[in-house]
Amino acid sequence: MTATPRRVAILISGGGSNMEALVRSMGPGHPAKPVLVFSNDPDAGGLAKARKMGVPTFAIDHRPFGKDREAFEQAVDKVLRQARADLICLAGFMRILTPGFIAGWDGQMLNIHPSLLPLYKGLHTHERALQAGDAEHGCTVHEVTAALDDGPILGQARLAVRPEDTAESLAARVLPLEHQLYPAVLKRYAAGDKTPVLIG
Ligand code: GAR
Repeated sequence: MTATPRRVAILISGGGSNMEALVRSMGPGHPAKPVLVFSNDPDAGGLAKARKMGVPTFAIDHRPFGKDREAFEQAVDKVLRQARADLICLAGFMRILTPGFIAGWDGQMLNIHPSLLPLYKGLHTHERALQAGDAEHGCTVHEVTAALDDGPILGQARLAVRPEDTAESLAARVLPLEHQLYPAVLKRYAAGDKTPVLIG
């Protein structure tokens, strides 16, 4: 018997290349299906990409909410509930979420981060890996918990840093790994398997 696919909402702030990789991966027989692509930026390039792929989109500009994160998140939460999402994939969603919002989606929210967590939480991960002289770098998918870029690791993809690497070249080499890793983790996770996916 095939289980009902998990209903996935993907949250983006920018170009949405990870969102695109996730949506493309959810073909027939997949344990999840995309029901919404949401952005905090009405001009996010990924919204048009999602619509082209036939996925409903919605945007709520966070800026008019000012410092009132809770009010913004209440509006977001409403949209996600209306879409009957039961799994959320943060994919380049560049707003920090409050513990209250996260608690409402406990065990139902994944994030991709461009570093080998627990190294380099936050921003400028490629620069920081280079500055530290790391031999390896990569990306991580994890379950979202109240602490930023924390939570159980569900997969990592790694590459060897080259002597000539710059922050830009590292970003360009990590991104295709993200596009492999996130769909692989989502497929496992949606099927109820939290065994970490390890690439490279
Ligand atoms: C990706 O590299 C993702 O890992 C990163 O933003 C980029 C989004 O690209 N996310 C974070 O830095 C979250 N802290 P995309 O819009 O093309 O998927």
